[in-house]
Amino acid sequence: MKADEIERLIKISKERPLMPETYVPWQEDPLQDDLYLPEALTSLHGLPVYDTLTPQQKKDLGRHEIVQVLYSYGWGEALFCVFMSRYALQLPTDSPEHRFLIREIIEEYRHQEMFAQAITRLKGIPLLQTPAHSFAGRVSTRYLPADYLFMGSLAVELITDVYGNYARRAPEIYKVIRKVFELHNIEEGRHILFTKGLLQSYTAEAGYIKKTLYSFVILMNIYFVRTMYIRKEIYERIGLANPGAVFKQAQQNYRTKFTQNCLGQIIEFVDSWGGFNNATRWAWRLLLKAKV
Ligand SMILES: [Fe+2]
Ligand SMILES: [Fe+2]
Repeated sequence: MKADEIERLIKISKERPLMPETYVPWQEDPLQDDLYLPEALTSLHGLPVYDTLTPQQKKDLGRHEIVQVLYSYGWGEALFCVFMSRYALQLPTDSPEHRFLIREIIEEYRHQEMFAQAITRLKGIPLLQTPAHSFAGRVSTRYLPADYLFMGSLAVELITDVYGNYARRAPEIYKVIRKVFELHNIEEGRHILFTKGLLQSYTAEAGYIKKTLYSFVILMNIYFVRTMYIRKEIYERIGLANPGAVFKQAQQNYRTKFTQNCLGQIIEFVDSWGGFNNATRWAWRLLLKAKV
């Protein structure tokens, strides 16, 4: 990415900061019929069991699942900040990359605080990451080389972007949630531009093996995020008779929906530098049911 393009992104970040404190109308209560997550994005929508839920159970399902999404983003961004801080230390202080990364870190910390406040506003009780998620998150943040970590973070940012677009454009969604996603969507747009620019040079020089590895890193990151959303405990909380069986159906159902609703941009990106080949295609099909 050219220096003047990065300078432009830094300028926007400085001159038009979006403050969660004032941008989100925290004091507004949900309206009678407000939902918390678009129905199409909930794990049970589309299954016969969904039609047996009462309106209150549907609402609660969305509330618990959006809390899980907000929590997962916050945690993912916290890990990414650890990495970015370390990475920024190696760059000359006055370089555009360094200065943009500092802006990004500032914004990411604001996002984390905003997500936490939204969870509190929803009276949410997030289910913390599993030991496997925790381990994978810590190890990758600590040991993966920079290009791989940026690949992974871009994948998660693109998913967040799609998810946020659904939530902020749905008039039936509680205004606080819509504004949270609107703010996030605007600022992440700049992060995505920067990261894509940064990765262009890496992918331009990458050969078959490196492209294969990049593709796997992205795939695992998406798989990682997706599996944090769906949790059996949520079905217990909304009072379903057989949460274990529902969980299994939900996993299948959600995998298909996630592929339909959220993967478009990612597939386009991976395809743009030749990340689908004989070594990677099968895994994308198996884990994400992606049509690649
Ligand atoms: Fe963010
Ligand atoms: Fe970001």
